[in-house]
Amino acid sequence: MKGDAKTTVHANPFMPEPARIIRTQMLTKDVKFFQIRLADMEKALAFRYSPGQFIMLSVLGAGEAPFSISSTPSRPGLLEFCIRKAGTVTNALFRFKENDLVGLRGPYGNGFPLEEMLDRDILIVMGGLGAAPLRSVLLYCLDNRDKFRRVILLHGAKNPEEMIFREEFYSLKEREDLECFLTVDSDTTGEWKENIGVVTALFEKCRNINPADTAALVCGPPVMYKFVLKELVKLNIPKDQILMTLERRMKCGVGKCGHCAIDYIYTCLDGPVFTYWDVLHMRELI
Ligand SMILES: Cc1cc2nc3c(=O)[nH]c(=O)nc-3n(C[C@H](O)[C@H](O)[C@H](O)COP(=O)(O)OP(=O)(O)OC[C@H]3O[C@@H](n4cnc5c(N)ncnc54)[C@H](O)[C@@H]3O)c2cc1C
Ligand code: FES
Repeated sequence: MKGDAKTTVHANPFMPEPARIIRTQMLTKDVKFFQIRLADMEKALAFRYSPGQFIMLSVLGAGEAPFSISSTPSRPGLLEFCIRKAGTVTNALFRFKENDLVGLRGPYGNGFPLEEMLDRDILIVMGGLGAAPLRSVLLYCLDNRDKFRRVILLHGAKNPEEMIFREEFYSLKEREDLECFLTVDSDTTGEWKENIGVVTALFEKCRNINPADTAALVCGPPVMYKFVLKELVKLNIPKDQILMTLERRMKCGVGKCGHCAIDYIYTCLDGPVFTYWDVLHMRELI
């Protein structure tokens, strides 16, 4: 399953476009939500991307870093990101307020192969910050609900306070056309009404899927993959229908610097979405 190549906002791939921060909100103690719009309204509305793609955000004097797009292309104009405070660029971004300008270039990477996912059951398994890229594909499926069969979401976090988009996922549970299951390793609030346990415990809820007609999408912390992939194989989902978005250190995002290369694979161009089949042939990917 392969994704499609996408447009960039500028003819020179290294030239960032000014983009305005429209809204920010702390999602957890170290993850912040950013809603951003290209300053040029025409370019903002023309910006095309695919769920699973990423962009490079830059801050003058601090540098540039890649971030997955969390919004859906079915709601054009605004771009959304969940950003964890990690170092120089992300610390600078956390100091930015609404109306401030950042630089943005992209979109980059392959994205999820939406065409090949049509008319299939979609099983989304996310953990921690893995919700960032997978929220994009989830919202896309919900906005184009007639194009997919069952949509199942399994989302795990360490505790309720660390569950990114917790309130949004709570409200999605009301939808009858989404099977949404949430779990936390432990409840620190005393108010958690959903499942308690690791995300693999939720696989009980989807034993009755039709594996040949399912696309499974996975993103989460490295430790999650080993256990989740085992469960997906147990469900008999073909390995080329198990898709995961993986992070490598990246610098240019456009296949020029070699920072993200593993043998002949440039993860910024050939990824960040890979099939389980790709990963079995190139174990360094995880
Ligand atoms: C395709 C892609 C999508 C991404 N999407 C998101 C996202 O949606 N939200 C988000 O918060 N982050 C995301 N990241 C990670 C993000 O790019 C890094 O956290 C960011 O580059 C850190 O920049 P910094 O200048 O703040 O930190 P730095 O000052 O560069 O580094 C801080 C620390 O983090 C380590 N580090 C930096 N980048 C990485 C990395 N990629 N993997 C492992 N360790 C790293 C460094 O070694 C250092 O210890 C993504 C990365 C990639 C490649
Ligand atoms: S990040 Fe430069 S080649 Fe991939």
